[in-house]
Amino acid sequence: MDQVQDIISNDHALLSKFEEHVQAGEAVEPRDWMPEAYRKHLIRQISQHAHSEVIGMQPEGNWITRAPSLRAKQILLAKIQDEGGHGLYLYSAAETLGITRTEMIEQLHTGKAKYSNIFNYPSLTWADIGAIGWLVDGAAIVNQVSLQRTSYAPYSRAMVRICKEESFHQRQGYEIMAKMMKGTAEQREMAQDAMNRWWWPSLMMFGPHDSDSPHAADAFRWKIKRHTNDELRQKFIDKTVPQAELIGLTVPDPHLKWNDAKGGYDHGEINWEEFKQVINGNGPCNKQRLQHHKQVHDNGAWVREAAEAYKARTNNQSSN
Ligand code: 3HC
Repeated sequence: MDQVQDIISNDHALLSKFEEHVQAGEAVEPRDWMPEAYRKHLIRQISQHAHSEVIGMQPEGNWITRAPSLRAKQILLAKIQDEGGHGLYLYSAAETLGITRTEMIEQLHTGKAKYSNIFNYPSLTWADIGAIGWLVDGAAIVNQVSLQRTSYAPYSRAMVRICKEESFHQRQGYEIMAKMMKGTAEQREMAQDAMNRWWWPSLMMFGPHDSDSPHAADAFRWKIKRHTNDELRQKFIDKTVPQAELIGLTVPDPHLKWNDAKGGYDHGEINWEEFKQVINGNGPCNKQRLQHHKQVHDNGAWVREAAEAYKARTNNQSSN
């Protein structure tokens, strides 16, 4: 019995030392002691973040062959390549917590792991590529700049690297929208239609209201998050509305109104039923996104096998 008591009191001591460490704003490295719940929370968030980056390549990839100019195609290719790289940084950060890439992909394929709601909407026109870059990457930047100060060091380092590339993504999207708003009536209509379809799902990217966020308490206790879902959403709205107005786009929210007292925009209520449906597999493109990912994963099996065989052979040679 004493032995059990010792283990429990030792764990309590480790936990309070850990919480002092993170509360003081110190970083946690993979080799540091961490509570199992901290490790699990991070595996969940980082792996879902990584899945989002990779799945997000699909709606944009849809337009590579239909980009309106060689320059537009080059920019889109560069952006999609960046997103794949972001996924790799984040899978590697998650692997430092003891989960394998195979396990994470399996969690994605079985629906056990989520990815961002936003990538379950179709990219119907070229203006959608502008809206995704401007709004989706714009929202991702607000979220990821805050995550640069997350307590888990490999995640924070990945965020610093990713944020550098995201600003190019946001700017190229805004350039597409600005150009279309200076174009023909059809182009202006196309841009406004994309704005109407992507605005609200972009607000949902920040997650449920703080009062409905089951992970918020731990996220703040362990400084995984530095800002709440609603704070980041508000920051995104306040930054993006003037950008829309500058190029003549209308934000599709009749309740949007500047509130002097709060120093920000009041806005209409988000359709949380739609959000719940989409994040639980019933969005417009969920099935197609997962099917495609599984298909490409299977097609790439030979590459993984060849790399494994090569690694085994070189390990063999170096041990002889
Ligand atoms: N999409 C899908 N699921 C979401 C979601 C969203 N936008 N927002 C919340 N959820 C899920 C959470 O995952 C959680 O479900 P789970 O327990 O099964 O994981 C549940 O809803 C409750 O939400 P919480 O707010 O309590 O959960 P979190 O504390 O994890 O906060 C988050 C949600 C704000 C998305 C947080 O996980 C986060 O900051 N993640 C990192 C950023 C990220 O994933 N961004 C995705 C976009 S990547 C991208 O845009 C690429 C760009 O380059 C184009």
